[in-house]
Amino acid sequence: MNLSTNYLGIKLKNPIIVGASNLSLDSKLAIELQEAGASALVFKSLFEEQLNLEAAELDENLHQYDDRNAEMVNLFPKIEHSGPKAHLLAIKELKKALTIPVFGSLNCIYNESWEEYAIHLAETGIDGLELNFYSTVSDIDKQGQAIEQNQLETLKKVRAAVKIPIAVKLSPFYTNPLAYIKALDGAGTNGFVLFNRLFQPDIDIWEEALQIPYNLSHKGDDRMTIRYMGLLSGQVKASLCANTGILEGEDVVAALLAGADAVQVVSTVYKNGTQKITQMLNVITDWMHRKGYNSIDDFKGKMSKQNLKDPHAYRRAQYVDYLMRSKEFSNKYQIR
Ligand SMILES: Cc1cc2nc3c(=O)[nH]c(=O)nc-3n(C[C@H](O)[C@H](O)[C@H](O)COP(=O)(O)O)c2cc1C
Repeated sequence: MNLSTNYLGIKLKNPIIVGASNLSLDSKLAIELQEAGASALVFKSLFEEQLNLEAAELDENLHQYDDRNAEMVNLFPKIEHSGPKAHLLAIKELKKALTIPVFGSLNCIYNESWEEYAIHLAETGIDGLELNFYSTVSDIDKQGQAIEQNQLETLKKVRAAVKIPIAVKLSPFYTNPLAYIKALDGAGTNGFVLFNRLFQPDIDIWEEALQIPYNLSHKGDDRMTIRYMGLLSGQVKASLCANTGILEGEDVVAALLAGADAVQVVSTVYKNGTQKITQMLNVITDWMHRKGYNSIDDFKGKMSKQNLKDPHAYRRAQYVDYLMRSKEFSNKYQIR
């Protein structure tokens, strides 16, 4: 059975990539993931915010001695924030330890930093770079168009600065993600990772405090990504990678049928361990065997909008039809 697929112009032995997360920070775990069958791994994002925070903390720590001993800071002139060095070194080490492709991931605040850090990351020898366009709006005066324009400019800058393939990881929160993806595609993006899971705060009502729980994905969370894979398949030059809620082998098959070239998984590894990857690959192989498919290309995109005969598939009409079946709904969920 041939499970190989092409992602970002790179041949992967199968479509299951381990997404950016803390799983990549432990090299033993990363090797286990490779042994379990993962075809590639995305290293945790380099967050500029985190670096700034660490630098500010170091600065503060040094300066809190100023009053007691003015020479304190000068006594240790070599102590300085390591910046992205530790991160870059860790990627280099992991790249040496693994045989599968390793991708870097980047999330910056300032335009200039995107370019600078992208160059540093590319120099580590990574096989591709994911731009993590994670941004949660909190400014009521900021126009959506300005955010999109800014991210597009960032992509163009990074595209011009590095030669390695570039993927863009997006949240679904754009007025028309399809049009925006088309613009990014035209500007040289090699792949789209759809969609990022945004961490939303919760409120502890007794402490009356904000909390940010690390909640993992649940069954059914992949529906939006599957819909967008189906809409985008055949419409963009870039590869498509389904992310969020891909928990089982069956979810991978559904994403591929919709048109994904690959998937990224994180939650299912946290929940079920590294062996889950092997089990998911077995499910895919078994399904292909039963359906008489020999390779991913035999069925990839078969259920995409482009390949479905039904003109209403993926359209609003489907949604209206669903809501109109209210009787069926009440019968299923007997409220009274
Ligand atoms: C502990 C943890 C750390 C993560 N760190 C990153 C990160 O550094 N960069 C990133 O783009 N996504 C990060 N993510 C998001 C995942 O890559 C992925 O997009 C998200 O978990 C949805 O996929 P899933 O349903 O398979 O979990 C992280 C997720 C978790 C649970």
